[in-house]
Amino acid sequence: MKRLVIATRNEKKLRELVRYLKPLGIKVSSLKDIEVAPRVIEDGATFKENAEKKALTISKFTGGLVLADDSGLVVDALGGLPGVRSARFAGDNARDHENNIKLLNHLRNLPAAKRRARFACAAAIADKGKIIKTIEETCRGRIGFEVRGRYGFGYDPLFVIPKYGKTFGELGARVKDRMSHRSKALAKAREFLKKYLRSF
Ligand code: IMP
Repeated sequence: MKRLVIATRNEKKLRELVRYLKPLGIKVSSLKDIEVAPRVIEDGATFKENAEKKALTISKFTGGLVLADDSGLVVDALGGLPGVRSARFAGDNARDHENNIKLLNHLRNLPAAKRRARFACAAAIADKGKIIKTIEETCRGRIGFEVRGRYGFGYDPLFVIPKYGKTFGELGARVKDRMSHRSKALAKAREFLKKYLRSF
């Protein structure tokens, strides 16, 4: 049976990815299961570049099927920041809460209409050391005025879905899984993998 390695060490992200890929019914493991996997420096200018670099590096290392995602928050009023620097917005090893506070400070005094943002996700799939598919998806929302909710991770407590007037942090996994940037990208990745795996 073909095995799929998910190229992440982020525990919460991994949980989301495993949830989305479950219907495929294949064996899924992560970088934590590969002790000596190379560390990938995410120095690309775009989510796509980073996702492809991660998938490619790990697939060259394992020789097998790998899925990597790179994602982040793009805020219109900040010219696209924090973008590919989302995880490190408040500095290397910054905690989610520190990134959230920095973002709130940058947007201080901006009215709701100017707080438009989107989450973006690039998912790259590689096999035998070659990229075989890359998908990009987004989810639109706006940045709230305070941290709200206890679900999810990263900027979820600040990311308001206009339709609900609530943050992903308040809405929880069921709603997030239906509409997030990652769930949309992963739905497409899942369809691609279903067909790809049939060819073996
Ligand atoms: P990555 O591991 O390089 O993809 O880092 C993505 C960073 O973007 C995370 O550490 C979060 O700060 C942010 N991010 C990406 N996706 C989400 C999400 O679904 N919710 C909240 N924050 C996210």
